[in-house]
Formats: sequence, structure tokens, C-alpha cells
Amino acid sequence: MTLNYVNICNGQLMIGQFTAQQLAQRFGTPLYVMDEKYIRQQAQMFKHSFTHPQLASEVIYASKAFLTLAMCKLIQEEGLSLDVVSGGELYTAQQAGFDMNRVYFHGNNKSLVELKMAVEGGVSTIVLDNEDELEHLLPLLTHSQKVLLRVNPGIEAHTHEYIATTKNDSKFGLSTADPATLSLIDRLISEPMIDFAGLHAHIGSQIFEAESFFMEADALIQFIADHKLPVKELNLGGGFGVAYTLDDNPLSLPEFLHSLLEHIFKTLTSVGLDTMKIMIEPGRSIVANAGTTLYTVGSTKTTINHKNYVFVDGSMADHIRTALYGAQYTAILANRADEICDIPYTVTGKACESGDIIIKEALLPECKKGDILAVCSTGAYHYTMSSNYNRLPRPAVIFISEDQVRMVVRRETYEDLIRNDVGV
Ligand SMILES: Cc1ncc(COP(=O)(O)O)c(C=O)c1O
Repeated sequence: MTLNYVNICNGQLMIGQFTAQQLAQRFGTPLYVMDEKYIRQQAQMFKHSFTHPQLASEVIYASKAFLTLAMCKLIQEEGLSLDVVSGGELYTAQQAGFDMNRVYFHGNNKSLVELKMAVEGGVSTIVLDNEDELEHLLPLLTHSQKVLLRVNPGIEAHTHEYIATTKNDSKFGLSTADPATLSLIDRLISEPMIDFAGLHAHIGSQIFEAESFFMEADALIQFIADHKLPVKELNLGGGFGVAYTLDDNPLSLPEFLHSLLEHIFKTLTSVGLDTMKIMIEPGRSIVANAGTTLYTVGSTKTTINHKNYVFVDGSMADHIRTALYGAQYTAILANRADEICDIPYTVTGKACESGDIIIKEALLPECKKGDILAVCSTGAYHYTMSSNYNRLPRPAVIFISEDQVRMVVRRETYEDLIRNDVGV
């Protein structure tokens, strides 16, 4: 038994109509493979499920999960908006011709250059994190700028500490329990060049409990009602969990998204508030399960204490989430995918770090040099978090749609690695 989105046919892992082995042979390894059809289906699922007859709604793709020019175009074609958190993400969106009226600019420490870029580029909404950002923004404005304020409603979702973002001491946003937050909102309302549209919050990532999102919405609505805030837009962030292993039990999103909006509508009515636009910002849940990383097995090793290692040609440089968060993944021996998986292996790469672990314990058939090892669900926060540690070139990224394949990011070369080195 394996993850329900994994397709195995005649002992071969399939991605679209290609075997993983064909893709590895044609494009080399390590390789990030993205199932474009899956991404488009997820985007449409969000768009059609996050609707309500009495509430305006908007789905904003959190580009930090996975961003390239091709991805920007895909998101625009599917009719979603875009969340960017840096000048680099904004630049990518601009170069892809993304409609700036649909871009939200986040971040807790936007530089003056980034704020200027956003204002001059006509970004629809700037999500302010704190009062300093307002001070930096005001002198740049020549026209009224729509803003949201990021707040922390103090909800702790059950997730890893580094991906939980709304505790009262979080580095992001301002606490709804802090009176200074209300003073800042008053100021935003009275600033002539600021169009204060409302609030933003994001309670964490990889969340499986519907209750966490309901509590977030209730806390924010209560805050708005208690202080009679003129809020037209409420952005609840992302964080919808996905299955990386069989132990993960994500929400059924189509039903959950409907129920979330229905819950919000009832809560707004019960506190006597007018309708407002509700937004969400999914990242991982759109792309994680679309991605597979393909590696070639170089060698295996069994230690004196009987620990089995399988060494692949990638590393923590293309797969950091296990080392960073202890994240868990599922591996498949792609070219012998129907063989019995009864050997526990630690899947590790070629980086000079003992912490270079891709999967702590994966049950696999006996691995041999030249086998293709696939790590599933690597579409989110892999390519975007990749590095050149140990001067390893980053892998290529390819998009598969049924029988169509196209490269969207070429593999880095050794020349790329020294391109910016100067002073010799
Ligand atoms: C502000 C904000 N919105 C959206 C997201 C996307 O979260 P996820 O990929 O878990 O959906 C994040 C992730 O860190 C975030 O910080």
C-alpha cells in the first residue's frame, strides 16, 4: 500500500504517462518532476470549493512553496491570485507578466527597495507587518495604497515550531491582545494615502485540524466586532496539510473549504457584522503532492551495528526539510516498484554533513547502484529552499502533463556556480 496519488504500473513508478526511469534517463538526476495536471486540478478545486453565495472570496497562491516563471503563468491561467514575500518573488511575477492587481506583498521586513518596487509596480495590496513598515512605506506613496495588517490571534496550531507562526511572541505580525495593535489600526484608518482594507493572519503550516482554522476565523471576527473595525477583507493565510506518508491524515479540502466559509458567514451574522471578502493563501496543498524528486542510487552501506544506508546523488541541498523540521517522506524504488519493501534504509545524500538525511527510515527492496529512487510529495518547499551547499548544482525542474513533458528550470552547471564570484 502506498500514497493514493502514486501510480505504479508493471513495476514502474509512473508520472503522467512516463516512467520515472525514462524521465531520469532523459533529464538526468537529481530531478524535480512536477505533475502539472495535478497542480491545475488543485488550483481549480480551491477556486470552486472556496465559494459562498453571500461572501466574496479569493484564493491566493503562496508562491514561496514553489515559484518559477512557468508556475506564475500556470497560476494566472487558473485564475488564482499570488502572494509574494520578497523582491525576488515579485520580480519573477513581473517577468512572467502576472497581473499586479492580483498580487499581495507579504513579509516582516520589506526593504525600501522592495517597497518601492511594489508601489511602482502597482501591486494590489501590501500586507504590513508592523509600524516601522508603515513609516517606510508612507514617503514612497504617490497614490493611495491598499494595505492589510498582519495580526496574531494567538491560535496555536499543532505543527512544527518553525512552521507555527501565530503564537503571541511570533516574529510575524502584531498580537490582537496588544493595545498597540489597535492604535496602529486607528492610524492606518486615518492616513490619507492608506486604504486600510483589513486583516491578515496565518496560523502555521501542515495543519490537519479543521478546528484550528475555525478558531482562527472566530478570534479574528470577534476582534473586528469588539473594536468595530472597518474591515472589508479578511485573509486567513494558508497552512492546509498534505499527506507525506500513510500516517498523515489531511482534511478533505472540498468539504472543509465550503464548511469554513459557511462557518464564517454564520459567525459574522451572529456578531452583527456585514459581509466581507474572505481570502486564503494555500501553498503546500496546491503543489506538494505534485512533486517527485528522482535520484540515482550510487551505493549502499551496512554499518557494524546493522544500519543500512542507501546513498543517492542528491542531498540536503535539494531536500532540506528533513534536516530542518524532521519532516517525513515516502520513498519508492521507481524501477522495481512492485518488489517487497522489507529492508529499512536511511536514505542519505552526498553532502558532507551527518545531518544530510533525506528519509530517516524508508522500507525498500534491496537497493543497487543505478536504481532510481523517488521521493514523493516534494513539490512544496524543495526547489524554493534548495541551495548550492558543497557547490552542488541545483537540479532541473520539469513539468509533466499526461504525455507532454517540458523543462521549466534547467539544471545548474559548474559555470553557474562561479558566475558571481569576483575579485580573483
Ligand atoms: C503568510 C503565509 N501565507 C501562506 C503560507 C503558505 O502556507 P502553506 O504552504 O502551508 O499553505 C505561508 C507559509 O509559510 C505564509 O507564511
